[in-house]
Amino acid sequence: MKTEHAPTIRRADYQPLAWTVERIDLHFSLDPDATLVKSRMVCVRNPAAEEGPIRLWGEALERLSLLVEGAGPAAGTVREADGVLEIDAGGERAVVEVTTRIDPRANTTLSGLYLSNGGFFTQCEAEGFRRITYFPDRPDVMARYTVTLEADRAACPVLLSNGNLLEEGDLPGGRHYARWEDPFPKPSYLFALVAAKLVALERTVATASGREVLLQVWVEEGNLDRSEHAMESLIHSMRWDEETFGLELDLDRFMIVAVGDFNMGAMENKGLNIFNTKFVLAKPDTATDVDYENIESVVAHEYFHNWTGNRVTCRDWFQLTLKEGLTVFRDQQFSADMLARAAGPEGAVSARAVKRIDDVRVLRAAQFAEDAGPMAHPIRPDSYREINNFYTATVYEKGAEVIRMLHTLLGTEGFRNGMDLYFSYHDGQAVTCDDFVEAMAEANGVDLDQFMRWYEQAGTPRVKASGAWDAASGTYALTLAQHTPPTPGQPEKQPLVIPVAVGLIGPDGRDRPLRLEGESQPGATTRVLALTAAGQTFRFVGLDAEPVPSLLRGFSAPVVLELDETDERLAFRMAHDADPFNRWDAAQRYAERVILALAGGQASAVPQAFVAAFRALLNDAALDPAFRAQAAALPAEAYLLERMSPADPAALRAALIATMRTLGGALADDWLALIDAMRVDGAYRYHPGDAGRRALGNLALRYLAAAGDARGLAAASTRFESATDMTERFGALAALVQSTSPAREAALAAFHERYRDDALVLDKWFALQAGAWRWDDAVAPTLERVRALMADAAFSLSNPNKVYALLGTFFRANAAEFHAADGSGHAFWAEQVVALDAKNPQVAARMARALENWCRYAPALQSSIRPQLERVLAAPGLSSDVQEIVGKALA
Ligand code: TRP
Ligand code: ZN
Repeated sequence: MKTEHAPTIRRADYQPLAWTVERIDLHFSLDPDATLVKSRMVCVRNPAAEEGPIRLWGEALERLSLLVEGAGPAAGTVREADGVLEIDAGGERAVVEVTTRIDPRANTTLSGLYLSNGGFFTQCEAEGFRRITYFPDRPDVMARYTVTLEADRAACPVLLSNGNLLEEGDLPGGRHYARWEDPFPKPSYLFALVAAKLVALERTVATASGREVLLQVWVEEGNLDRSEHAMESLIHSMRWDEETFGLELDLDRFMIVAVGDFNMGAMENKGLNIFNTKFVLAKPDTATDVDYENIESVVAHEYFHNWTGNRVTCRDWFQLTLKEGLTVFRDQQFSADMLARAAGPEGAVSARAVKRIDDVRVLRAAQFAEDAGPMAHPIRPDSYREINNFYTATVYEKGAEVIRMLHTLLGTEGFRNGMDLYFSYHDGQAVTCDDFVEAMAEANGVDLDQFMRWYEQAGTPRVKASGAWDAASGTYALTLAQHTPPTPGQPEKQPLVIPVAVGLIGPDGRDRPLRLEGESQPGATTRVLALTAAGQTFRFVGLDAEPVPSLLRGFSAPVVLELDETDERLAFRMAHDADPFNRWDAAQRYAERVILALAGGQASAVPQAFVAAFRALLNDAALDPAFRAQAAALPAEAYLLERMSPADPAALRAALIATMRTLGGALADDWLALIDAMRVDGAYRYHPGDAGRRALGNLALRYLAAAGDARGLAAASTRFESATDMTERFGALAALVQSTSPAREAALAAFHERYRDDALVLDKWFALQAGAWRWDDAVAPTLERVRALMADAAFSLSNPNKVYALLGTFFRANAAEFHAADGSGHAFWAEQVVALDAKNPQVAARMARALENWCRYAPALQSSIRPQLERVLAAPGLSSDVQEIVGKALA
């Protein structure tokens, strides 16, 4: 267990270690209750550091022996305190041998070595390796590993570790062994082993330079028929990285392993990626289009880490966004390219916009909220208590936006040149974000000093835009002003470099070529303006009429754009903006305005003008279905709560229900027509075009069910019964559950019956119920349902997927029910966070974050939440993980 009083770690305190490790030989004698780990390390003095002892971190280890240069260390040369073993050593090199005993079965944290369904698995990022053996467990120690695994052959016929298999064979007593060697030096967080009963889907493919490589997807025997899509995603990822960045797989073998108990999505261990089953397994009967899409992007993400993360890694954990922001950007670009390719030349622009919209939805709902609360931090944080708490939307998603801005400012070719230079300088090194940005600057001959503020400042910048039209000269003056609100510890903010992509739409709905004052020729219809000062005015000349500005096209920067626009203007942009992202965004802004007016009591009904604009966009047959589905989906509840002050979940929910009912009812005939028009014939295949049609069809069912339309409910019931794939079956079920239909309970029961042995499908079933709105007062509060579901045989507090599906959905995606006025949800939260913390602090801390923004809620809710936060903080033996979250919330 972590010490209760983990100190705050500061980025400014970074010091190189006096000793690092060059080579390590590991020997595992695997046993569920008592695994012996023998480690032999060649330690070397670090010429770049001051003198000091060898420092080895260790946690939850039983140390059986320690030898230095083959002998027991001299008296007084070894000390252990605060989880660090210090050994005084002379000379330039020292061989240290440690034997430890660990208990995988007792390890419920899922960090280090643990058991899942009888197999052994590891998770070492960020600081799990120290739970396996004593080691300088920091990413700036890159060593070469050889690993010998020994286990019972019947229980664990497959023995895997990083790199290449050297040998394998039998041992007495029904045991066997395998020896692996990783040719590339790596940090300890990329170490992995798997010993389990698995089977592999295999492919041999050639890399761009013609090397044959073996690809494997390892799953439990019954899941082989769900491993194909992951394999195809891997092959597509390899090709994409070769074509886009000239980056090739550097190993002879690349493995993906699926495990059912996993704290996060997946992990990029060198040559041996370990995945949550959720991001590997798919077949039409059990996985939705969205699952297929997520698998493709997570497989790509982990594969791309091989270069951005593994070959070039982080010097320290403050640099996490160096690998995560960059790798998320890469997986976003990959997915956009895959969608564009599937859509063909005419559909490519729209397909890319759909992907961009998905990514921006996540950013706005999760990262903007994070930036507005006590956990606000720059993409490169200055301090932390528990690094696992900093695998955040800010480090990942905002980090990816920062890389995207570099891409926008430097262009595709300039960005590629920067990447090439980065690898040429830093391959095989552990580096900082400065190293990355310096390579980008040098390759492009530009100064990115001011740009570095994106790495230093927390908070979501506001960009206020205003325009002035001078008819006499045909000049449109666009004034942009930036301001970043204060965040904890950062009262003052400096101006950032903000790329603002701009278009000007004429009264005819068409973009005007843009000519800035001083330019001789009009140019493109979308231009990127670099806003670098607190305020700047840009003058566009040569215009024939007053334009309608379309700003931040493609969401060119992770900011809140403040622009006064009338309803008419939003409707105009919904109909005419040439930038599909902004067309969607205009619809979202209009919807937000309508919903917040209802929630705030400034309006009592959804305005007709909004319904008309919505209808026009929905029925625009020139737009592809995936885009129309995005445009017709209301803004996320979490995002709307963020825009409300004070946040009032009950009022917001009532407004959302009213809006859904109005749109469902007023457009009932349109929705019914769409259900028919969007039907996809033939056997299921994962294809973005089909997925878009199914998404729009499912949305139509959703709106009709919300409105209680009898024809819609009948269509949902029929589809639920006759569907041949999970996207349609689950879409119909979701529509029924999110309605007052009497058919919903029977449908839930039938679904459970059909998939009672399928863990991943049951996660959907749990999540659907935990997230359900209450469409009529006859229905019991969702909390009662959640409590009952915790008693279901399939539920377990020890399995993160189950916890995220049931509790995570209730806490984070059902605000109105979670924040019930009687405070029952808050008390339940405290109870569950404390119970989870005893098993798995990382998962508990994620759940704990559900209440961090409690100060944004109305006073009555605050009075209900505070005592529960205090109760959790006072719980005996609370992990530093949860302490950090709740402590910051109460500070
Ligand atoms: N590096 C992983 C990724 O982004 C994230 C990850 C997987 C992780 N498992 C973890 C982070 C456990 C912290 C703890 O691809
Ligand atoms: Zn990652």
